[in-house]
Amino acid sequence: MSGSSSLTVSSSTGQYGVTVAADGFTQLLIEDPDALLIVDQRFELLPELEGRQVLTITADEQHKTLSEVERLLIALRELGAGRSDRLVAVGGGVVQDVATLAAQLYMRGLPWKYAPTTLLGMVDSCIGGKSSINAGAFKNLVGSFYPPAEIVVDPSFLETLPDEAIASGLAESTKIAYCRGPETFASYLGLESNFGDDPEALILHSLETKRWFIEDDEFDNGSRRLLNFGHSFGHALEAATGFAVEHGIAVALGMLSAERFGRETDLGTAAPELVAHAELLARRGTGLSEAADRFDRSVFERSFLADKKHGSDGLHLILPSASGSVAEVVAERSDEVVAAATGSVVSVLDIVSS
Ligand SMILES: NC(=O)c1ccc[n+]([C@@H]2O[C@H](COP(=O)([O-])OP(=O)(O)OC[C@H]3O[C@@H](n4cnc5c(N)ncnc54)[C@H](O)[C@@H]3O)[C@@H](O)[C@H]2O)c1
Repeated sequence: MSGSSSLTVSSSTGQYGVTVAADGFTQLLIEDPDALLIVDQRFELLPELEGRQVLTITADEQHKTLSEVERLLIALRELGAGRSDRLVAVGGGVVQDVATLAAQLYMRGLPWKYAPTTLLGMVDSCIGGKSSINAGAFKNLVGSFYPPAEIVVDPSFLETLPDEAIASGLAESTKIAYCRGPETFASYLGLESNFGDDPEALILHSLETKRWFIEDDEFDNGSRRLLNFGHSFGHALEAATGFAVEHGIAVALGMLSAERFGRETDLGTAAPELVAHAELLARRGTGLSEAADRFDRSVFERSFLADKKHGSDGLHLILPSASGSVAEVVAERSDEVVAAATGSVVSVLDIVSS
């Protein structure tokens, strides 16, 4: 592929490659003419897909469900897919989450490739092999690990992405860089200021940084847990506002809430540079006033308490630390702590929606 860069990720099921290239998507389809496609409905009519066997997904949180996975499994059977077939998923994080689980479950597993179409997919979710499926009001309650055989990041998909979705991807990239430490965060900020001219540099930086975490702790038992920064607050906020903001915007709000909560409870440390940057990104969300209006405290509290990281010893939260990065902190499972967490999110929503 012309002008391409690549990296390799090691996992327990083997290595897989990530190529970042402007003509990557076209090349991927040319190289695998018989693969079955699982595609965000928005791309159904792309000329490159003409004559191909295509299954579509509506890319929203309401479709990131087990019943959607089952619908795909049945559709694959009806298309006659067998164990020697391959899948290619094309879309953002929702398509990836549903396709990962469908690929893993269909006839006990088909190889699959992934072309992310959102910045969030390109800088974060495409590597690591996780599927995350919603169940009822609980975000990402169900999931597994099943890495793709190959990932092709084609930045030309960014041309049609709205500004909010760019900010959403940058929020996940901010999180990854901040979790790795001050030097990485500083180099991320430099690349972010030049993102319009050179998105590939930021994408590669983010993927290389995330690779460190997933190779160090593939199954989320140690360092990779730090990447949940912003997510305990962010996921609960998504549920409590009926998904009024995009996932990455919720993560930006979640990082701001975690920082505020940490400062006010003395469990974390002030992080001014992070706050300044995350606030700029969060303000690019379009559903902020709606989120503030719809915020349901009881749904927030229930979701916050249901976070999968928590243990019998208390609430496990990732908060800014004195090292200029983050640390996992265990907070007491008490009404006061939950009220402080809820208060932090309400204050942050007030600030960014004003
Ligand atoms: N599995 C993981 O490791 C992981 C990591 C992070 C996030 N996620 C999940 O990813 C989801 C969010 O994914 P996302 O933000 O990538 O987007 P998405 O899949 O939710 O899509 C958001 C919207 O953008 C549209 N879209 C996609 N590509 C486009 C393009 N090129 N141009 C214009 N519009 C486009 C979609 O049709 C949809 O309307 C969340 O459910 C989150 O939980 C998963």
